[in-house]
Amino acid sequence: MFRGPDHIAMRRITAGTYHRRLMAPVVIQAEHLPDPCSQWLSQRAEVHVCPADSLRFKELAPSAHGLVVRSYTTVDEAMLASAGNLAVVGRAGVGLNNIDLEACRAHGVRVVHTPQANSRAVVEFVLATLLPQLRPVAAVTAAMPIEEWTSLRDSARLPRQFNETTLGIIGLGRIGSRVAIAAAAIGFHVVYHDLLDIDAPGGCVASDLPLLLAKSHVISLHVDAREANRHIIGAGELAAMRDDVVLVNTSRGFVVDAAALAVFLASHGEARAVLDVHEPEPFRSDYPLLGLENVHLYPHLAARTSTALLNMGWVVRDVMAVLEGEDPQFEAGV
Ligand code: MLT
Repeated sequence: MFRGPDHIAMRRITAGTYHRRLMAPVVIQAEHLPDPCSQWLSQRAEVHVCPADSLRFKELAPSAHGLVVRSYTTVDEAMLASAGNLAVVGRAGVGLNNIDLEACRAHGVRVVHTPQANSRAVVEFVLATLLPQLRPVAAVTAAMPIEEWTSLRDSARLPRQFNETTLGIIGLGRIGSRVAIAAAAIGFHVVYHDLLDIDAPGGCVASDLPLLLAKSHVISLHVDAREANRHIIGAGELAAMRDDVVLVNTSRGFVVDAAALAVFLASHGEARAVLDVHEPEPFRSDYPLLGLENVHLYPHLAARTSTALLNMGWVVRDVMAVLEGEDPQFEAGV
């Protein structure tokens, strides 16, 4: 049940007065954070580290003023209803699909996150996983006769160089635009599709979606985690793609209809998919993409560099900013 405006106003006033009363706010850290970030937070708040499905969390929720989560804690109406003193949720990361923003707004709970924290890490992951798909190289570990040597060299010949390859980017935001710049710099023809009228990096050409799907040798998905992007790549979109397309998804698993992709890959042996994100995570043994030779599945690795993890963990600064009545740097929906 949503509380009325009086309750929300009270909660905000309370959140802004900790520093004046010299009371440490109670913050629940529901997922792992890098040590420097959790230590920093512990110096300023009474921190309790416990996952959302624990009994301890349930006990602490009513007295918590702040909550810090990463990807795998769902902040929904039920949780918010049990946390009557909560003033702020900090999401250490970019995507907010695990947080019901509407319910947070209704409960007067502010949401802060780290939209710039892992762009570079994700771009590097896209390049690191994509380029070997386009230019696989066989290394030799032993001497071999000339016939075998020649046959190896012949089998390694590729039909297309990077500068003869069209990369279609769907979603030209922080990450998509960096992928575009990097790919264009090494010769790719970059086309993109975005709902917004974007000031695109030089050399990148806007395209409508059907043309991008039909022409691109590689399609990389960089849309955001909003629910409206569920299954924007389904059976119809896959049927419009080239038979030898390489599809890369580092956005969210639900953006692609996994069952439709499995059917497509099973019947298009030359097509490949590089998927870092899934629904659910971890995926289960009935995941339709398991067992296909032309799919490469990764366990949500793109943002896992020490730097990006630290950048994401520093969401605690914005959590404390809200609790101390200051302006956070990155607040969702503001
Ligand atoms: C994000 O939304 O920031 C990414 O999925 C990274 C992550 O949470 O690991």
